[in-house]
Amino acid sequence: MCPVMRLKDKVAIVTGGGKGIGAAICEAFAKEGASVVIGDIDMAGAEIVAGTLRNEGAAASCVEIDIASKDSATNMADAALKEHGQVDILVNNAGARIIKGLMQHSLDDWEKMIGINLTGPFLCAQAVIPHMVERGSGNIINIASIASFMGRPNRCAYVAAKTGVLGLTRAMAADLAGKNVRVNAIAPGMIASPFNQSFAESSDSGPAWAQENLVGRWGQPEDIGGAAVFLASDESSFVNGAEIKIEGGWLGARSRSGELPIWD
Ligand SMILES: NC(=O)c1ccc[n+]([C@@H]2O[C@H](COP(=O)([O-])OP(=O)(O)OC[C@H]3O[C@@H](n4cnc5c(N)ncnc54)[C@H](O)[C@@H]3O)[C@@H](O)[C@H]2O)c1
Repeated sequence: MCPVMRLKDKVAIVTGGGKGIGAAICEAFAKEGASVVIGDIDMAGAEIVAGTLRNEGAAASCVEIDIASKDSATNMADAALKEHGQVDILVNNAGARIIKGLMQHSLDDWEKMIGINLTGPFLCAQAVIPHMVERGSGNIINIASIASFMGRPNRCAYVAAKTGVLGLTRAMAADLAGKNVRVNAIAPGMIASPFNQSFAESSDSGPAWAQENLVGRWGQPEDIGGAAVFLASDESSFVNGAEIKIEGGWLGARSRSGELPIWD
């Protein structure tokens, strides 16, 4: 028996799909039959991912976007609608991080982090929601972070924005109640994407950070794809305003230094 494609005939916009986690989500969606529109500020990266998907037989295209700009978000939604006539799924994945001390963060740094990581998902959602409401169906997935649950040093604006992403997720889900448009979040832990390349490749943080979670390895971008497919598909039809943590158990349970489970 042929396996059923879980996103057959669906059209998905994935912001920041030009590399890392976004590229893996595009790949997972395409494998499940979706047509993918990649919105990214880096068109070179987006074109490479779209080209790979097309070579694999999927429909894929790119739109240049800065998610922090309202016009850009509107253009992306318009381009997807013009090409496909519908948008079923929006993944607000594009994000960026500034690592600086609290007092080193300038107002510009703060506004940039809030703009990309929190205002961006809001604007992109606003750009597609009228269409989704009119069609009577839709699905929005916001990529949050372990930093949505926990303070981390030297990332005050990023942590504030990613914490806000969970609030935005819940509030949008509430506003869209009864419209058959669900809004959920995925909170990745340490994922070895280009975002974290320097930490993953460092001889200090590379192996040491892998041991901090219960699984004992860095996450890979592909680890996020399955959850995104689940949330985007009807399999999760009773999941709304929720978040799925994909962090190897880093937030859920932790050993103190030198404290190991006793087995014998
Ligand atoms: N990698 C991790 O460990 C990790 C952990 C938690 C959360 N996240 C979140 O996951 C998401 C994806 O992260 P990643 O690791 O794949 O990052 P990445 O840096 O590897 O890729 C980010 C993508 O977003 C695009 N982008 C950046 N700013 C943009 C903008 N203003 N407009 C449009 N596109 C823009 C980039 O060009 C790139 O293609 C982000 O929201 C990030 O905060 C990542």
